[in-house]
Amino acid sequence: MATIGILHSRPSVDSLKSIRSTATDRSTIHRRLQKALPTRDKDVWANNEGTKPKALPAKYADLKKSLVKPEDYDAVQASWDRLLVSLEKRVKEIKSAGPVAVPVVDFNEIQETNCQFPEEIADTIRAAGCCVVRGVVPRAQALEWKASLLSYVDRHPDVPQLPNNSEPQIYCTFWQKAQIEARSHPAVIRTQLAMSQIYTASEDTEVDLMNQALYADRWRVRRPGSVGMFQPHLDNGSIERWEDKEYGRVFRKIWQGKWEEYDAWDMDHRAEAVMDLYGGPGACSAFRSLQGWLSIDDNGPQCGTIQLLPDIKLSMAYILLRPFFNDQNKLDMDSTYFYGADPGQGHVLKDTWHPHLHLNKSIVSCPEAAPGDYVLWHCDLVHKVEEQHKGFNDSSVIYIPVVPLCEYNIGNLVDQRKAFLKGVPPPDMPSATRSDKFERDHEDRGRPEDILTLEGRRLMGLEPFEASEVGITNGQKAIREIANEALEF
Ligand SMILES: [Fe+2]
Repeated sequence: MATIGILHSRPSVDSLKSIRSTATDRSTIHRRLQKALPTRDKDVWANNEGTKPKALPAKYADLKKSLVKPEDYDAVQASWDRLLVSLEKRVKEIKSAGPVAVPVVDFNEIQETNCQFPEEIADTIRAAGCCVVRGVVPRAQALEWKASLLSYVDRHPDVPQLPNNSEPQIYCTFWQKAQIEARSHPAVIRTQLAMSQIYTASEDTEVDLMNQALYADRWRVRRPGSVGMFQPHLDNGSIERWEDKEYGRVFRKIWQGKWEEYDAWDMDHRAEAVMDLYGGPGACSAFRSLQGWLSIDDNGPQCGTIQLLPDIKLSMAYILLRPFFNDQNKLDMDSTYFYGADPGQGHVLKDTWHPHLHLNKSIVSCPEAAPGDYVLWHCDLVHKVEEQHKGFNDSSVIYIPVVPLCEYNIGNLVDQRKAFLKGVPPPDMPSATRSDKFERDHEDRGRPEDILTLEGRRLMGLEPFEASEVGITNGQKAIREIANEALEF
């Protein structure tokens, strides 16, 4: 889910570079600023009312011209024509398949490997951009975590909840024992690393697919009969996918009219892309290569679960090229419609703006996810939440994304460690959740001794990364050294 934004823009990547040379300069590292809690939904999401989206300022026509060069105009038009044909076919396949279009994998597939899926399974996940990993944690353990979380809320009913009414769905605790155990559980981490390693990175790219920097998020208990909160949307940036130069390089093949060659799992330019240029209330100031939740209940279709558009390449090619084409499907380099990707607001999609995606057909409910199953989806994947919960069980999850160790995430790691040790909300969470009676004031909150594994201590910033490990890439070694310096090990 989208998280609430920050008050001020984050510094550019260039300023993050200074961590390398002045990692002990705390003023550089401590760059995350406390957020404000938006009071209205429209502060978070782009306005999706009306048949035409808001026209952005004229500079965005120049931005389009900087991405698609005149010599590629014909190729991009031809690529759009091919894309619409492919999309029409694929949408029919997805609608026919329903939830089956979302791959389901057994945790045993990665149990005995070096945290890697067998290649044929990895290919299936690559194509869909999402999956359910079954049996990551024993059912009894997952249910125990749910009971523990609800017990905490019973003891401390002043825990901030969203929405703040009689039917809350999201509970704003970050440092509960159950959350700490889940994040540091060896099978959860093994699954995260297997998903992380579906990405590829060049030898010198400063990213570590075998280590993470935790993004401490919340948990959800959605009651039967409740109505949903999330429309079709994208997280991990909005206009930034076009506007940030490094982020735009991720999609260079698409700008050249070669969307078939676009690799959604190439980490080389993602690791330093800026995803919140405007610090908007819909932004998250960490790079989550995959979003995800661990099921702590019997989740499934019709029961208020997540819905996904399970084709990462076609959907992203369409969304990114949409501003370059008019309603007659002809190249238009002068208009400034970005169709729900407004600066500083969450990226929303709708049928009339994205007609060829056929969102009511291409978005399917996630298959059953029992307690202990783990659902993960690529950072560029369109998703929403079922509008109605028609089932009989709670729909309950602990949000646990995959957050690779890279420069973009190190600042968050440093500040978040401080927040954990104090028991206050992490730096990326809204200040309005800092009530006087929050976790900090509760002796029964989670502690470092609740972390289950060495890897768990590492992703919390409590242990140094192994910079001298044999067999790692130059980029891994560099980023581990940068992280260790920033963490003052
Ligand atoms: Fe989301």
